[in-house]
Amino acid sequence: MSILAKKIPLFNSPAKSSKPHPKKKKPAYVEVNSDDNLNGRKKRPLTGNTNATNYTKQPQAQSTPPRKKQRLANALDVLQEQRRQLPIAKGKEALVREIREHDVTVLLGETGSGKTTQIPQYLLEAGLADSGMIGITQPRKVAAISLAQRVSSEQGTPLGGLVGYAVRFDDVCGPDTRIRYMTDGMLTQELLGDPLLSRYKVIIVDEAHERTLRTDLLLANLKRILKARNGGTDGKGKRKEGNPLKVVIMSATLDAEKFSDFFYNAKIIYVKGRQHPVKIHHCVQGQTDYVDAAMRTFFQIHVDQPPGDVLIFLPGQEDIESLQKSIERLANQLPPNHSTVLVVPIYAALQTNATKAISIPAPRGVRKCILATNIAETSITIPGVRYVIDTGKSKENRFLTGSAGGGFETLLTRDITKSSAMQRAGRAGREGPGYCYRLYTEEAFTAMAPTAEPEILRCNLTQSILQLLCLGQDIQELDLMDAPDVDTVSSALRTLFILGALDSHRELTPIGRKMAAFPLNPVHARALIASKEHACTAEVLDIISVLEASSTLFVDVADKRTAIADARRKFIHPAGDHLTVLNASRAYQAVGGSDEDEKVDKISRSARKEWALAHFVNERTLREAASIRKQLQQRCDREGIDWRVSCGEREEPVLLSLAYGLSQNTALITPDGSYKQTIGQAVVKIHPSSSMADVKVPAIMYDELVYTNQIYARGVSSINKSFFATIGALNRREA
Ligand code: CDP
Ligand code: MG
Repeated sequence: MSILAKKIPLFNSPAKSSKPHPKKKKPAYVEVNSDDNLNGRKKRPLTGNTNATNYTKQPQAQSTPPRKKQRLANALDVLQEQRRQLPIAKGKEALVREIREHDVTVLLGETGSGKTTQIPQYLLEAGLADSGMIGITQPRKVAAISLAQRVSSEQGTPLGGLVGYAVRFDDVCGPDTRIRYMTDGMLTQELLGDPLLSRYKVIIVDEAHERTLRTDLLLANLKRILKARNGGTDGKGKRKEGNPLKVVIMSATLDAEKFSDFFYNAKIIYVKGRQHPVKIHHCVQGQTDYVDAAMRTFFQIHVDQPPGDVLIFLPGQEDIESLQKSIERLANQLPPNHSTVLVVPIYAALQTNATKAISIPAPRGVRKCILATNIAETSITIPGVRYVIDTGKSKENRFLTGSAGGGFETLLTRDITKSSAMQRAGRAGREGPGYCYRLYTEEAFTAMAPTAEPEILRCNLTQSILQLLCLGQDIQELDLMDAPDVDTVSSALRTLFILGALDSHRELTPIGRKMAAFPLNPVHARALIASKEHACTAEVLDIISVLEASSTLFVDVADKRTAIADARRKFIHPAGDHLTVLNASRAYQAVGGSDEDEKVDKISRSARKEWALAHFVNERTLREAASIRKQLQQRCDREGIDWRVSCGEREEPVLLSLAYGLSQNTALITPDGSYKQTIGQAVVKIHPSSSMADVKVPAIMYDELVYTNQIYARGVSSINKSFFATIGALNRREA
C-alpha cells in the first residue's frame, strides 16, 4: 500500500452519528407501515397471496427440462419472499384502497421501500387496470430498463411479455404488456399520437421530486387529461362515463405538498421505509481532485473496514471510467491477504445488459465497488451497500441564454444539493448501520442549496416547445408547476423560427410538424429533413445516429494524443468532424462485412471490438448508433423519406444539409485566428480534440459549445460562406 501510505488520510476523527433523513414533521401524512391503520380504519388481514392473478401469464416453454423448471420455480419463490419482506408490503391493501378511492394520489416513501417495483404489481393484481395499461415513468432510461427486468422476473414472465419497457429508440413491449416502464420523455412523445393517453388506465409518475422538464410537462398534461377523462379532479366536477384515469405521483423525498396542491389537494400517503443509522464523516479540508480522493478513501475502507459493498457517487461517465481503471489497477497490486475488488459502473449511457450486474450480490470474499452517477440516489436501489463515498458533485444541464440571442447548452459539474447529499448517505443504511464518507467539509454541506431547481427553469426548451406546438399547446399558457423563464422561451422560439419550424406568426410549418415526428434534437431533425432534398439521407442518417448516441465516438486520452491521431488518420476528413464521423462509422460497419447488427456473427463481433480498440473509438457508441439508425430508418419510411438515397463521394450535399440544422451554430474567423459567432457575440475556439483544431478556415459550424476556462466549439466542420445566404433565404422561404 505504498501509494496510499504516503498520502495523508482524508478522514481522521469520525464525525457524530446522524440519521440521513430529516425529521418528518408532517402530521398530515398518512403513514403506511406494519403498525399503522389507515385513517383509523382497522387493517384487514392480508390475503398473503401476492400472486393473485386476473390476467393470463405467459406459459413457460414446453421444452423446459424438469430440473431447470425446478430452479426457476425456486428462484421465483425467493423473489416472492423478498417481495413480502419489503416495507411497502404490509400496507398493500390500504394502499390499493386509497388509490382506488382517489383519482390522484401522492405517494411518498424512502428509497428501497418498494414503491416502484410493487405498486404497479399491486394495482394490476387488484384489477385496477383490467381494461388498459399501467404506465410508470422514470427520468432515466437505465432505471426504466432495469426496473422492467426486475418486475418481469418477479412476475415470472419474460421481459416484453406482461411487463415491458419503452425508452427512446427501444420499445420492448408486446400485445400482452400490462405494466410498461418508460422514460418520461417517451410518454410525452406518446401524447402526440394519443393526446388523452387513452390506452392507459393508470399512470404513475415516479421520481417526481427530480422535476425533470418532461415530468413537469407530463404533470401539466395529466391535469388536462384528468379533466377530459374524469370530469375534474377536485371531486366536484361531473364524472364522465367511459375511461377514467388514475394518477399516482411518487417521490422519495418529503416535498409532497406542492404536488398535492397542484392536483387540487390530492391525498398524500407516506410509506415508511427501513432506515438504519448512518455515520457521516466529513472531510477536514475541501478536495480539489475528487476522483483521486474517492480512490484513496475507497482503499482506506477496503484495507481497514469489515466486509460490505462500497457505493461511490461521481458526476459522470468519464470520471466513472477513469476511477474504475485506477481502482482495478491498484487492487491488483494489493497483497493476497486482502479480498478481491469487483468494480461495477452504472450511469445513464450504459447498455441494457450491463445493468444486471448491480443487483447480483458479490461472491464471498469479494468486495463490490459500485461507481454511480446520481442515478443511484433514488432511482435504483442497490442491495448490499454498507459504505457510501460521496464526491458531492453531479452533472447538470444548463441552458445559458446570451444577451444577443443564440444561447447554448452546457453540462456543468456542480455541487449537489442538501437533499441529494442526504439521499446519497441514506444508501448506506438500507440493510444495516452504515457509513458515509463525504469528500467535502461540513461547512460545504451547510452551504449547499436545499433542493435542485426544476429543470424547466434551466434547460433548453426547443424540442419540448416544438412538441407542445404539435399538441396545439402554448408553453406560456400551460398550467405548469413552475413557469419557465421568458428569455428561455423566446430563445427556443427563435431557434424554431430559424430552423423553419415556425413561421413569423409563431405558427407551426409543415417542416416543423415533420421535425416533431422524429424523436431527435430539432437540429438533427432539421438536417435529416433537408437531406431528402439534397439526396444524401444515407450519409446524414449515419452521422446523426452517432451524434444522438449517449456517449461520444472518439476517445480522448490526453497523454495518448499522438498515437490516437496516427490511428485515426485514415478517417480524418479535411472538411471536419462530421465527415470524419461518417468515415469512422462506415469503416466500422465494413468490419465483418455486414452493416446489419444482428447479422454480425461472433467472429465479426470480436473483429469489430478489436478494430474499435485499435482506432481509439468507442464501440459502445457505434453499437448504439446502429440501433438508433435502424429506428430512424423506420421513421423515415413512415415520413416518406427514402433513407437509401446516397450522394456517394460528394461532400457538399451532406454539409449543406447539416448546415440547415446548425445554422445558429456558425462562426466566422477573426484576424487573430479565433472565431466569432454569427448569431450571438461569443468568441469561440475549436476544441483540441477536433480534427479542425489546427487548421484555419473562413467559416465553421459546430455541434455544441463547451464552457471550461473559455468557450470551445466541439464537433466542427468547415463550411462555405455562401451557405449562409442559401440557408437563410431557404429557411425564410419555407417558413
Ligand atoms: O421505489 P423504491 O425506492 O421504494 O423501491 P423499489 O425500486 O421498488 O425497490 C424495492 C427493492 O427491490 C429494492 O430494495 C431492491 O432490493 C429490489 N430491486 C432489485 O433487486 N432490482 C431492481 N432493478 C430494482 C429493485
Ligand atoms: Mg423507486
